[in-house]
Amino acid sequence: MSESAQKPTQRQPRRVVSGMRPTGRLHLGHYQGAVKNWIEISRKAECFFFSADWHALTSEYKDTSNIAEAQREMFADWIAAGLDPERCTLFIQSHVKQHAELYLLLGMVAPLGWLERVPTYKEQQEQLKEKDLNTYGFLGYPVLQTADVALYGADAVPVGQDQVSHLELARELVRKFNFHFGTPQKPVLVEPHPYLTDVPKILGLDGRKMSKSYGNAIELGEDPQSARKRVMVAVTDPARKRRHDPGHPEVCPIYWLHRAYSSPERVELVDRECRSAGIGCVDCKKMLLESLIPALETHRAARAELDRTPGRVEELVQLGTRKASGVAEQTMAAVRDAVKLT
Ligand code: TRP
Ligand code: SF4
Repeated sequence: MSESAQKPTQRQPRRVVSGMRPTGRLHLGHYQGAVKNWIEISRKAECFFFSADWHALTSEYKDTSNIAEAQREMFADWIAAGLDPERCTLFIQSHVKQHAELYLLLGMVAPLGWLERVPTYKEQQEQLKEKDLNTYGFLGYPVLQTADVALYGADAVPVGQDQVSHLELARELVRKFNFHFGTPQKPVLVEPHPYLTDVPKILGLDGRKMSKSYGNAIELGEDPQSARKRVMVAVTDPARKRRHDPGHPEVCPIYWLHRAYSSPERVELVDRECRSAGIGCVDCKKMLLESLIPALETHRAARAELDRTPGRVEELVQLGTRKASGVAEQTMAAVRDAVKLT
């Protein structure tokens, strides 16, 4: 993978695909790290966003009972957060069978060495000991991801830093597939590029990465009372044991939430007054809540509005799934042709 060190080209995207594993209601990390950018991109490019339920199975096959409900919550939160189903195609991966077909064909040319060298492969096997990641399915995770983006001819894939290695593999795999089954004049599949945007760092209330499984996340639609309580007991810079101890905002989850939710003036004030012990953490947290609580309330109102029409979310996703299937089938017709499976 010689060109993997190359800077990703940040050109204007035309067609965009991205997915998210269905883990239920969205938290602020999902929104700031992904959905907010999706909304932005959907104003200028044709977009496909999907629930990666097959990807969820690569690590969660032991208990699949929550996937359907988690998926519904996720779609509802996407829409309530401002992702417009009229502008983008929202769909369920496992309902578009062409993902499985292309995954299989890409698997024929995917070198084992490439898959074993994806950094997240070993890392996650070491870190997530409670899960069985010793499977063919887990090794094939990036192959399935390649199929996801290649099916729609996506030139840009908005992903976080943690997914860049998957995207590099996707590009190499598409190239290899094109080498065997296409011609230089007529490639079969489009090479995808990562679309990186400035994503504000969001830390969980305990200072670790925000994640549902750590119990340190604030949900987008969290009850304001509960959010207030949890923010008020959240960890801050451990160096600020006493009120007059100067702090280091960059290690504090409250500071990063200010960066995402407060005005630039306020962020500057927090930064300065934290370092000089000009403000205490309680005041700092109260200032954050002034902007955070209204954001949560706005989301709750949008969710309530959406939930007032039962079946609405399902209907929109069904519509999107039908549309996605049409595009995916066009790609697969060309692929079957190129592989001479006609
Ligand atoms: N692997 C991604 C994640 O864990 C989810 C995903 C699956 C995805 N297929 C994709 C993202 C295709 C972008 C494009 O977040
Ligand atoms: Fe964090 Fe604010 Fe306290 Fe500084 S003053 S440590 S930014 S809560």
